[in-house]
Amino acid sequence: MRFKNRSVIVTGGSKGIGAGCVRVFCSEGALVANLDIDTAAGDALATELNEAGPGRVITIGCDVRDHEQIRAAIEQTVGEFGRLDCIINNAGAHPPATTIDDTSVDDVQSLMQMNFVSTFAGCKYAVPHLRKTRGSIVNVSSMTAVLGQKRSSAYASTKAAQLGLTKALAVELGHEGIRVNAVLPSNVDTPLMREWADTLDDPATALKRVSELQVFGRMASPEEIGRVCLFLASDDASFVTGQGIEAEGGASLDY
Ligand SMILES: NC(=O)c1ccc[n+]([C@@H]2O[C@H](COP(=O)([O-])OP(=O)(O)OC[C@H]3O[C@@H](n4cnc5c(N)ncnc54)[C@H](O)[C@@H]3O)[C@@H](O)[C@H]2O)c1
Repeated sequence: MRFKNRSVIVTGGSKGIGAGCVRVFCSEGALVANLDIDTAAGDALATELNEAGPGRVITIGCDVRDHEQIRAAIEQTVGEFGRLDCIINNAGAHPPATTIDDTSVDDVQSLMQMNFVSTFAGCKYAVPHLRKTRGSIVNVSSMTAVLGQKRSSAYASTKAAQLGLTKALAVELGHEGIRVNAVLPSNVDTPLMREWADTLDDPATALKRVSELQVFGRMASPEEIGRVCLFLASDDASFVTGQGIEAEGGASLDY
């Protein structure tokens, strides 16, 4: 087991990619704290995984748009598990596709708060604990950070900001043994993806088109992204820091 008795925080771990991370880390013996606004779904997942083991999962109600809630939830996690070895800053939102003309400055600020400031706060409040374990940070960014995306200027900007933070912190914290990396998924089959498709005229065709963007002709599963996060958090990645791992199923090839 690659994370036995080590502690990990996953933000937004009740569903989607975050839930994939919770499942993968629990299967490797980890002590997992899921910080999510949806505690009902989180509790259901925790009940299922605590029966299966070998790790342990707790749910902590937390709205990542409020950095004080992140700080309190991190302290609660360390109080519960006695240590922190990794934080996965995953919670995020993708609003419906909108041109820059129809995107207000307020829209950008609130998405920055949700996707980027939450990531900054997660890092900031975790670092004092990660210093003690020489732990690591994994930020869930997106391929849109490096490729852009039509009518998604606000979203792509928040994801690029996470990548910049990842590299800057890797430089700042490396001498203390803390590694900082990002994962850049392309398309993952999650509730967020299906909600996005439902905003379009023909959701089934949209999901098919999105699946075919990868050379495998399918989207990633949440667990496939969770396994990349596990690799980055584990000792197997002891010489990897400041990287944006493009877990994109070949979506950026063959142009
Ligand atoms: N799905 C994709 O194809 C894809 C691709 C690239 C990057 N991403 C990124 O992955 C991350 C997760 O995406 P997903 O598709 O799993 O999303 P999702 O909507 O399926 O799941 C998000 C989880 O976050 C929780 N959440 C929502 N708002 C919250 C808040 N304010 N505070 C705390 N928790 C909150 C939800 O309850 C849910 O459990 C996001 O940062 C997203 O940008 C997703």
